[in-house]
Amino acid sequence: TTVEWEAASYDMGGHDTYMHKEIFEQADAVDRVLRGRIDDRFSTVHLGGLNLDAREARSVRRVKILGCGTSYHAGLIGAQMIEELARIPADAEPASEFRYRNAVVDPDTLYIAVSQSGETYDVLAAVQELKRKGARVFGVVNVVGSAIARESDAGVYVHAGPEVCVVSTKCFTNTTVAFALLALHLGRIRDLSVADGKRIIEGLRKLPAQITAILEQEAEIEEIAKEYADARSMMFIGRVRGYPVAREASLKLKEVSYIHAEAYPASELKHGPLALIEPALPTVAIVPDDDLLEKNRAALEEIKARSGRILAVAHQEQEKADRTIIVPKNEDELDPILMGIPLQLLAYHTALALGRDIDKPRNLAKSVTVE
Ligand code: G6P
Repeated sequence: TTVEWEAASYDMGGHDTYMHKEIFEQADAVDRVLRGRIDDRFSTVHLGGLNLDAREARSVRRVKILGCGTSYHAGLIGAQMIEELARIPADAEPASEFRYRNAVVDPDTLYIAVSQSGETYDVLAAVQELKRKGARVFGVVNVVGSAIARESDAGVYVHAGPEVCVVSTKCFTNTTVAFALLALHLGRIRDLSVADGKRIIEGLRKLPAQITAILEQEAEIEEIAKEYADARSMMFIGRVRGYPVAREASLKLKEVSYIHAEAYPASELKHGPLALIEPALPTVAIVPDDDLLEKNRAALEEIKARSGRILAVAHQEQEKADRTIIVPKNEDELDPILMGIPLQLLAYHTALALGRDIDKPRNLAKSVTVE
């Protein structure tokens, strides 16, 4: 499957920046990554480029995901989805680290290279090293026919369409959806039940409308961004599914607004970073309505007790937070796909309020094709 990227898709379409345009393209982009792939009869998905028969899929003992920057963060979410839905041990690591540490390459591990551009040198070098050692490497890539797509044995295209802004938004979201499809596919070949497969498919189908509902809150998020734009530093926290969301949101804010931001697992606050909490350091907390809700609320209380300001991204109003952005609830496993989206808008409006060069932040490049 290939997609033609027409000149029209580079048109600004009335938006002032590509970042804004790309954030608002996400409902359509997610629709595209799902299109033609859902198989209701077997409650699974078809991934044409995967080239992995059922027997091979069952023989995968581990999954190792490699990527850089935002793609690495999408990989962290993907690894959790694969563990949760397919019950295959999975983790993600920056490709830039992996390629320098003489990693053990294992024949029963499925290696997945994630890249928007398909040209990031650190990822490409990791793929080449893996292939040299006989590993099986899949690509989760946006740009069709790119170097990483060509070097991989097989893969899944992300179909986000062209992404121009240096900071990645719609491709991040589509990559997490592509991982959900892969996790569902692997899960249904293994032990994920028909009922759970159906539940995930229903969740996937809800995503585009839920994304639209999130983006309709732009005016409120803009107001919040103005309130927080004077912060010198911000803390982002989340737990388990929420933690990679916090990391990506923190990266987004740093890249585009140049405000220092740090992401921590909420569970680790008490082991150090609580010392930083004071009114001048606002916290953004990812608080999904899942089995960890009470734990997350306890973290908010700890922060409030130290007079910290809190912005929560949650499925319901958080009493301890100064502000809550409400996100529609999906299936627990798919919540991470949605919870970062309002924080893309927060980063965008913060950068706008500070007069930053949004589509081309200083010192950064869209794809780093050199060592
Ligand atoms: C650069 C960009 C990041 C991007 C990373 C990986 O550092 O500035 O926004 O996440 O490369 O790019 P890729 O194309 O491999 O996803």
